[in-house]
Amino acid sequence: MTVHFIGAGPGAADLLTLRGRDLIASCPVCLYAGSLVPEGILAHCPPGARIVNTAPLDLDAIVAECRAAHDAGQDIARLHSGDVSVWSAMGEQIRRLRAEGIPVSVTPGVPSFAAAAAALGAELTLPGLAQSVVLTRTPGRASSMPEGESLANFAATGATLAVHLSIHNLARVVAELAPHYGADCPVAVVYRASWPDQKILRATLGTVSVPEEIERTALILVGPALGQQGFEESCLYSTDYDRRFRPQRAEGGRNG
Ligand SMILES: C[S@@+](CC[C@H](N)C(=O)[O-])C[C@H]1O[C@@H](n2cnc3c(N)ncnc32)[C@H](O)[C@@H]1O
Repeated sequence: MTVHFIGAGPGAADLLTLRGRDLIASCPVCLYAGSLVPEGILAHCPPGARIVNTAPLDLDAIVAECRAAHDAGQDIARLHSGDVSVWSAMGEQIRRLRAEGIPVSVTPGVPSFAAAAAALGAELTLPGLAQSVVLTRTPGRASSMPEGESLANFAATGATLAVHLSIHNLARVVAELAPHYGADCPVAVVYRASWPDQKILRATLGTVSVPEEIERTALILVGPALGQQGFEESCLYSTDYDRRFRPQRAEGGRNG
């Protein structure tokens, strides 16, 4: 048997890969990270599946669930919100499972930063404005930041920042970023991207504030690209740019 780690997406039940859906449907056991994985995703579990919310469990208890299923010859669908490659606690689970000789697989999901960008209808890498996106966070009660990964350091690059797990720290985020980006820099806060109660707030570093009810499950996106103005057109579709699939010189292409 295998523990299949599956990115369950940002919230909407249909923002799930076909591979993820099919794996969920094939597993008699489903462990899901309760607070963010939508119920709609659990509808893909087969009838009679053992479905366990792991929010109240510690790591030992989660591994014990996996071991019990393994001993019974059952595959497990292990669901985490968004994509499993960021802030999923997948790393520590895989380390334990490998140590126990339990096989794992990983299926990616739609990350929340991509769902937030989609909600904004925004490209985060606009030529001349930003060509990098930094997925980061501020320190939390249980998680410090490695030295060097400060907002100020990332801000010094001018990249688009997607600040996770930090909406309760908005004042601090603004204070650290404003000296680098300036008070006029566009900011977007996307609350529960892709959920039915999704909310979008657009502002600048000088004006941004959020109502009290937006205190978790929100992303703070900061950077000049959020303004979606004043950028150059890419060479990709430029009429005079010679590229492999659209050669400008008659002799330059396969069909020329
Ligand atoms: C524990 S992290 C999980 C990140 C997730 N693995 C991903 O791929 O985005 C939770 C944080 O991700 C962000 N987040 C997750 N889902 C979100 C959504 N639907 N809308 C906005 N932000 C979301 C919030 O910043 C939240 O505090």
